[in-house]
Amino acid sequence: MRIAIVGGQLQGVEAAYLARMARYEVVLLDKNPTPLALKLASEFHRVDVVREPERTRKILSTVAVLLPATENAEALQALAEYCTRAGIPYLHDAHAYSISSSKVKSNLLFARIGIPTPRAWPNCQFPVIMKPSGQSGSKGVKLARNNHELRQFQKELMLLGDEIVTEEFVSGPSLSVEVIAHEGEGICLPVTQLLFDRAYDCKRVVVPAQMTPEVAQSLTESALKIARKLGLTGIMDVEVMVGEGIPKVIEIDARLPSQTPIAVYHASGINMVEKLVRLFCQGSLPECPATANLAVNLEHFKIAGDHLEVVGETCLAGRLPLNLFTGLGGADQVLTDYVPGSRDWVATVIITGSSPANVEEKRDKFLNQLIRDHKLRYFSDPKPPVEEMVG
Ligand SMILES: Nc1ncnc2c1ncn2[C@@H]1O[C@H](COP(=O)(O)OP(=O)(O)O)[C@@H](O)[C@H]1O
Ligand SMILES: [Mg+2]
Repeated sequence: MRIAIVGGQLQGVEAAYLARMARYEVVLLDKNPTPLALKLASEFHRVDVVREPERTRKILSTVAVLLPATENAEALQALAEYCTRAGIPYLHDAHAYSISSSKVKSNLLFARIGIPTPRAWPNCQFPVIMKPSGQSGSKGVKLARNNHELRQFQKELMLLGDEIVTEEFVSGPSLSVEVIAHEGEGICLPVTQLLFDRAYDCKRVVVPAQMTPEVAQSLTESALKIARKLGLTGIMDVEVMVGEGIPKVIEIDARLPSQTPIAVYHASGINMVEKLVRLFCQGSLPECPATANLAVNLEHFKIAGDHLEVVGETCLAGRLPLNLFTGLGGADQVLTDYVPGSRDWVATVIITGSSPANVEEKRDKFLNQLIRDHKLRYFSDPKPPVEEMVG
């Protein structure tokens, strides 16, 4: 199976990694000459799919399916047209995506079908979360503790030229679940738990998620209800913050997300890219066991000089192409731009174990060896401001 993946940044790494695990031939297209996912692909074409239609068409004439890994609206539109003309499956749901990429539109849909969400400002107390409606990757997410900060952040966020969503801060835990659906009828994959850095950027994904059976049920019900309302054919992730024992939906994204699919793959063997390919090629929902057998920790690190820091995934953006290593330092797999002698590099580390305690033990060992081998002296693991406030 030859699969085209368009976009080789964070989402592209996820797509290319999973496609490779499914033993597909990965044809990567990106206008950037050195995208992060470059070395995970079997073939790379530096091409601008919007401005170079002829070259793009020629490359795409050699593949069986196309998975977009970009949020660029023009590119998504152009790719939809190529696929229609070439008669190849386009692994994307443009309608669901258009709603999910706007938090304002998504919130309206949640309200219409009675999905629990954080209370909207001013019907809540401080602190509040403020975020631009159309961004992703935690861009522009702010925590305002009082009216003064609220006004200051309003001014700052207005410069992004987007609508601002202001809502109750819900303490969490933060959970995420993917739904794969055919014409609105979906199945939920194993739930993951997310941990964040100071800027609410996701630094760590953990399976199994810690949650009560009631939270798990409510989350699944919300996710399937949203998929039905969207008439989703494809994949979507649903993110919630748990507050007062209720999973409150903060956003959905109808596209292959980053980080959680790799964690789910290691926990359960479910390969979301393979499921998507089957869904679009067969025109029906593939079988998916919903259970995870292994505990997993997927985490990003940055090494700079003698500092080791746990970082949010956006720290990987713009780095050199990642290499994939298996078995390094007791980790299952490591994706890194490290080259021998380098004192400035990043790594995404995937560790599995029989239980969360076993994973924690392996993580400690991995970090201790890393610290010794690279003579690191400082370690930091930043947390969101509110978690720091409460200790
Ligand atoms: N209402 C909220 N309460 C607490 N934390 C929130 C809330 N909304 C967003 N966050 C934090 O900010 C992160 C990014 O916000 P999110 O709505 O997922 O936007 P995006 O991922 O598109 O940037 C979340 O994962 C979460 O950590
Ligand atoms: Mg999010």
